[in-house]
Amino acid sequence: MNSRIGIVTGGGDCPGLNAVIRAVAKAAARRGWETLGFLGGYEGLLQPRRYVRLDYTAISGLLLRGGTILGTANRGKFSAKTGHGESRGLPKKLLDETKRGFKALKLRGLVSVGGDGSLSIAQQLFEHGIPIVGVPKTIDNDLEGTMFTFGFDSAVACATDALDRLHTTAESHNRVMVLEVMGRYAGWIALFAGVAGGADVILIPEIPFNYQSVAAKIRERERQGRKFTLIVVAEGAREKGGGFVTSAGPEKNREARLGGMGAVVASQIEKRTGKETRVCVLGHLQRGGSPTPFDRTLCSVFGAHAVELVAARDFGKMVGWQGAQVGAVNISEAVGRLKTVGPDGNLVKTARALGISLGD
Ligand code: F6P
Repeated sequence: MNSRIGIVTGGGDCPGLNAVIRAVAKAAARRGWETLGFLGGYEGLLQPRRYVRLDYTAISGLLLRGGTILGTANRGKFSAKTGHGESRGLPKKLLDETKRGFKALKLRGLVSVGGDGSLSIAQQLFEHGIPIVGVPKTIDNDLEGTMFTFGFDSAVACATDALDRLHTTAESHNRVMVLEVMGRYAGWIALFAGVAGGADVILIPEIPFNYQSVAAKIRERERQGRKFTLIVVAEGAREKGGGFVTSAGPEKNREARLGGMGAVVASQIEKRTGKETRVCVLGHLQRGGSPTPFDRTLCSVFGAHAVELVAARDFGKMVGWQGAQVGAVNISEAVGRLKTVGPDGNLVKTARALGISLGD
């Protein structure tokens, strides 16, 4: 029986990847298995194969370390998405070559840590005969089958900290401050951080907005003697009838790069209200640094459960946080359809109840 497993990290990085690598290697070692970590995403399985042995020395200190010691890629041969999230099938030759790499190393199973793109690839590899288990990663929290992906809480903590800082400077200068956050086509980061950071306006992709409503909220605050306003804009937020704002032209075999909506909103607000307005783009700060305690815990739970699934040969599954416990769903059910914010969901209702404008 094979006593070796592999792990691969794919797509954009986020806090907690190393914590998952550590949890998987530790849980595997307790079963007497060796863990190989493939370098540079799935490409590490191709010739010349590139991997490291994740023994106790290699994983020491990983729980709190940002990024991934294995490296990752959201472009190249294994990029799964193009344009605004359209899926891309991998050529059979590439699937064959990957399977050869897996077999040559006599692995019992492969743990694939990734978001929608990397797990779509995992599903294709699974259908091609590679025994795979997925772990849901992304700051965007847009994967079905799990209430939370790891990395999300750390990104929200970063965005909330930014709002706390913008709050005091906005108040000192009687300004409108716009904070643009990541999240692609889902407004989870904007909504959670907006509520946690006391934003006055939160603009998310799921609720197209209009500038009149945003300007009305600013004027209402002025009338109440509140001379400053905090606005959180998700990078995928759109005006009613408008399109996404991108920061780079279309690139071959890559997803569109969103970005710039914060500046658009800021200039419209200044024009319509006459209020001095500034924009802050949080960008990749949301993806760097140590994971929060919640993410470290989630990563440990996910990693340990992934190894249990490999032990049970329960492949083609993605671990997930469901209700108050860890579980698993078919990877096919988790990918290809984004988990977005319900416009009538609890947190949107809470925001409205607190007088936060969603711009609609
Ligand atoms: O999916 C994670 C994410 O950080 C998105 O929120 C963001 O739109 C995108 O990746 C940025 O990708 P890149 O690092 O390639 O610019």
